Amino acid sequence: MSIQESAAIPDINDLSFWEQPLQERAAGFAALRTLDGPVRYPDPEIPFTRPGAGYWALVRHADVAEASRNSEIFSSEPNATTIVDAPSWIGRYIDSMINMDDPRHAKIRRIVSRAFSPRMLERTENDVHSRAVRIVDELVAAGPGDFVAQVAARLPVEVICDMLGIPERHHRRVITLTNITLGNTDPEYTGVTPEMGKLRTGLGLLRVARAARELHRLAARLGRERRAEPTDDLTSVLVNGNVDGERLTVREFGTFFLLLVVAGNETTRTAIAHGLKLFTDFPDQRALLLEDFEGRIGGAVEEIVRYATPVIAFRRNVTRDHEMNGHTYRAGDKVMLFYNSANRDESVFTDPDVFDITRSPNPHVGFGGPGPHFCLGANLARREITVMFRELFTRLPDLHANGEPDRLVSAFINGYKRLPCTFTTP
Ligand code: HEM
Repeated sequence: MSIQESAAIPDINDLSFWEQPLQERAAGFAALRTLDGPVRYPDPEIPFTRPGAGYWALVRHADVAEASRNSEIFSSEPNATTIVDAPSWIGRYIDSMINMDDPRHAKIRRIVSRAFSPRMLERTENDVHSRAVRIVDELVAAGPGDFVAQVAARLPVEVICDMLGIPERHHRRVITLTNITLGNTDPEYTGVTPEMGKLRTGLGLLRVARAARELHRLAARLGRERRAEPTDDLTSVLVNGNVDGERLTVREFGTFFLLLVVAGNETTRTAIAHGLKLFTDFPDQRALLLEDFEGRIGGAVEEIVRYATPVIAFRRNVTRDHEMNGHTYRAGDKVMLFYNSANRDESVFTDPDVFDITRSPNPHVGFGGPGPHFCLGANLARREITVMFRELFTRLPDLHANGEPDRLVSAFINGYKRLPCTFTTP
């Protein structure tokens, strides 16, 4: 079915769709799930698009899971991160393993996954905890304000920068650069407004390329230092590691560094910010959590990731004609995996619009579907969210969101830019 064929089909290409309250977006995707098959959308208005291109919106859990699993048919090459292929002058900065298929992807993943092994994560545990303690100390000293700036945006950037060995003086800049890279459709981050008309997308991409180039330069500098003098940080693992005698090239290191900084940051920030809003909007769930924090926090974290779905969608590219759940996809078709919709699929989740921290099983696809690209940082993110809420709710039991968040304008990240909060100073 194509978008022109039914007025009831929401126009998810229109950014105003993503500016609506979350319930209305969810209702739009619920309508898509009632249709007989997937909807084909035209590419969003972008000057670099190929004529005749378009994408199938995969909105059901079964489709998203299978497309994630079957990477021979549903390839991540040339691109898994944006609907429209980035022009080559941006592509060379963002062309990381997330946009590759096996065997190249598997090789790189083997090098970098050492840095996310249980042993490495164990080593970050104390650090994550002491950073969370300091963040809450500073929140208490400053008093209630914007939860995103004071808490949610801080822990993930500090942890990933520490892991990579990025000096503290660069942390603020790293936040700004990741905001530009992932929030590239939000005028607040790019300075690019709808009034700029047709130039808007090109200018937005230019800002992304500049931000990416700056991160690459930082990566190159750190990489050179760690090659000369390795330490125990992740940059040292990456620049000195090899698989079958093959090292990461300078460019591969740069793109992976950028992927980690961006992926390790915005996503976890979004989950922490949504977590506070959800525990405010669903006081019964908060009470349940506080009754048995250690017993229930694991389920709560999975439910935050399901309910909020920080990463809305990734893309796959069909390599040969293939039938999946009654629909035939043709070689060359693009598909978008809408994790937000799969995570509310009523055929998998009972009462999907209810936030239920005791939900079990909870086969959400918030960290990606079951397949070779499943989120490499999932365990780190789970740990950060757990440690942050343990510290917050132990010391500030009446911490709440205070009003509505200021949301990121994006069809990619379900982000909060600001979230007012309130608490009684202990
Ligand atoms: C992949 C979501 C945190 C690093 C992914 C994918 C999703 C995702 C949906 C799948 C991409 C695909 O299938 O094409 C999230 C969410 C997070 C989070 C919701 C937090 C709540 C992190 C963190 C890091 C990280 C903390 C690293 C520090 C990565 C990497 C990949 C990835 C490297 C690519 C894996 C590959 O291509 O093999 N993430 N992520 N993520 N994530 Fe995360």
